[in-house]
Amino acid sequence: MKFFIDTADLDEIKDLASTGLLDGVTTNPSLIAKSGREFIPLIKEICKVVSGPVSAEVAATDYATMRKEADVLRKIADHVAIKVPMTPDGLKVCKELSDDGTMVNVTLCFSAAQAILAAKAGATFISPFVGRLDDISSDGLQLISDIVRIYENYDYFDTQVLVASIRNPLHIIDAAKMGAHVITSPPSVIRQLYKHPLTDIGLAAFVKDWEKTGQKIL
Ligand code: G3P
Repeated sequence: MKFFIDTADLDEIKDLASTGLLDGVTTNPSLIAKSGREFIPLIKEICKVVSGPVSAEVAATDYATMRKEADVLRKIADHVAIKVPMTPDGLKVCKELSDDGTMVNVTLCFSAAQAILAAKAGATFISPFVGRLDDISSDGLQLISDIVRIYENYDYFDTQVLVASIRNPLHIIDAAKMGAHVITSPPSVIRQLYKHPLTDIGLAAFVKDWEKTGQKIL
């Protein structure tokens, strides 16, 4: 399973990249706004830190402008994945860019029907929003299970399921059980994955017992 980080905070990205566990980055207009940074220079900087896919989202919603914005964004680096909305115009852009060898991440997916369309449009990634479905009492993880199963039925669907809008570690564990290819998670949830109270208790006991031996390794 690949791990992407869902943030535009460069310090967080550098911190997680240093663990060697980071496979990519996803951003969106809300995260860019939160960062307070200029969009294009920021994406350039992120691309220098991370060699895997870096999602940069178009801002327009009409075909012609999205297409032009995508051309600007994909010039930043070969590993920029253009993020387009799950709309007819967005999928039109997706098909053209995919045919041209550019990675595309189709975002704001809330149904299996939408995921089928994105795969047919040649999307590299489909981003179903698990947390936002849970927020409205719909089963976000059921959608992941459905999409993974549907894609498995067709060898010619190369689209990777990128689980987005993650709220907690269980979303990641369950997505992994279902065989989702990628998760994109806020930094806080990735940090939670390391944690278990028995790890902390066990480590404290080992440290204490080692002190009793009076020995040193270095
Ligand atoms: O980047 C898309 C997605 O991960 C957004 O998540 O928390 O705003 O629902 P959230």
